[in-house]
Amino acid sequence: MSHLLEVTSLEGGYGSVKIINGIDLYIDKGEFVTIIGPNGCGKSTFIKIIFGIATYYGGSVMHKDSEVSGWRTDSLVNRGIAYVPQVDNVFQSLSVKENLEMGGIQLSKPLLEERIERALQMFEDLRPRMNDVAASLSGGQRQMLAISRALINDPDFLLLDEPTAALSPLYQQQIIERIDALRTKGITVLIVEQNARLSLSRSDRGYIFSNGKVVHTAPASEILVDPQINEYFLGTKKD
Ligand SMILES: Nc1ncnc2c1ncn2[C@@H]1O[C@H](COP(=O)(O)OP(=O)(O)OP(=O)(O)O)[C@@H](O)[C@H]1O
Ligand SMILES: [Mg+2]
Repeated sequence: MSHLLEVTSLEGGYGSVKIINGIDLYIDKGEFVTIIGPNGCGKSTFIKIIFGIATYYGGSVMHKDSEVSGWRTDSLVNRGIAYVPQVDNVFQSLSVKENLEMGGIQLSKPLLEERIERALQMFEDLRPRMNDVAASLSGGQRQMLAISRALINDPDFLLLDEPTAALSPLYQQQIIERIDALRTKGITVLIVEQNARLSLSRSDRGYIFSNGKVVHTAPASEILVDPQINEYFLGTKKD
């Protein structure tokens, strides 16, 4: 069977600035896959090219056996792909409820309400905060809101960019657990994470990026015990 997403020789960047230099990556239905790599190596840019918000130059992006490289974001959303950006992923001055409604402006009111209810069942912490502005939420709750908003369109493939950045260890753990739980709802997860050990501990496979390329890929269980990778990326260097 073909992969849910298969990226081959992808190149792209911002305008004429090339950042991604030929990336091969795939993800199968139901997988949880983590991308790690140093700051500025192109992790966010890679996700943005797939989602149609950074410039696509060349290569192939196959989604469910269709070539979708260079497609517009709204067409990708209609295919069931959702994206939670690394920064500015909620409207701070709007309420939690309004943020969720913004996620599904094209839906009928009953369907929107049903989807909001379903998101709240995954992220119960938001329920008592529905009428509060997003700016008043804790960092962890804000990430829950951003993820909930992405779920309103009923995606089956979620792209997440550093959802645990700047959160307390307790929230980091909670967020990754909730994301993992999305798999029981039929959602495939491709995530970029600085908290590599935490994310890889829930992942099937991992990719390591450097300078806009994949430098290593392996099952997460192997990456977690690889001494060289541990030294550079997993924060366990001893000396
Ligand atoms: N809008 C932009 N226009 C031009 N260059 C950009 C833009 N955004 C990012 N870059 C550059 O692209 C390169 C890759 O950035 P990117 O954000 O993809 O890295 P990253 O791996 O996600 O890093 P981090 O771990 O810090 O989030 C960097 O050199 C960055 O300065
Ligand atoms: Mg980034």
